[in-house]
Amino acid sequence: MNRVKLHDKEFEIFITYAQINENVKKMALRISNDMKNEDVLFICILNGSFMFTAELFKEIDLEQAEVTFMRLSSYSGTDTTGQVKKLIGLNESVEGRVLVVLEDIIDTGNTIVEVLKLLKEHKPKDVKIATMLLKPEKFNNKFPIDYVGMEIGNDFIVGFGLDYDQKGRNLKDIYKIVE
Ligand code: IMP
Ligand code: MG
Repeated sequence: MNRVKLHDKEFEIFITYAQINENVKKMALRISNDMKNEDVLFICILNGSFMFTAELFKEIDLEQAEVTFMRLSSYSGTDTTGQVKKLIGLNESVEGRVLVVLEDIIDTGNTIVEVLKLLKEHKPKDVKIATMLLKPEKFNNKFPIDYVGMEIGNDFIVGFGLDYDQKGRNLKDIYKIVE
């Protein structure tokens, strides 16, 4: 499938599942090597990161690794509202553990800043960020991101968990908007 239509917009193929898979495997290897002997809790930021989390977590080679899921939303349509809500769903004990926050994509960085701020209140030993995709243009290197799968341009994308008004999350490949 080279093109898809979701609501009123057309999208064209941009990153194939094979490319995503290759990047995610490399990331999982790096994280597994870096986190040896740590008590690691992976935190999936719902909804967009669910597929990335599944792909990454099965490649994590750490016997004690755990995963949990949290929710927070900042996007409506193709434009950020800038209004980040609070975190829901963190029931695990976080104190003294190494947290790896899993994001689908970092655009302005507002979401991840808010997530970090809220997680740090729970006194973890350390918090690392792993994002499948990064849009460097708006993020502008505000702070270092520990693990980045791939950098992309400013285009709006869907697929592999990412949505356009809730549509397109099921697409196995990633598509970008046709302007
Ligand atoms: P930020 O707060 O601007 O960094 O945006 C991060 C969140 O916005 C991500 O977790 C996504 O859910 C969403 N987002 C950013 N860019 C896109 C995109 O191109 N397509 C779909 N969702 C996006
Ligand atoms: Mg998201």
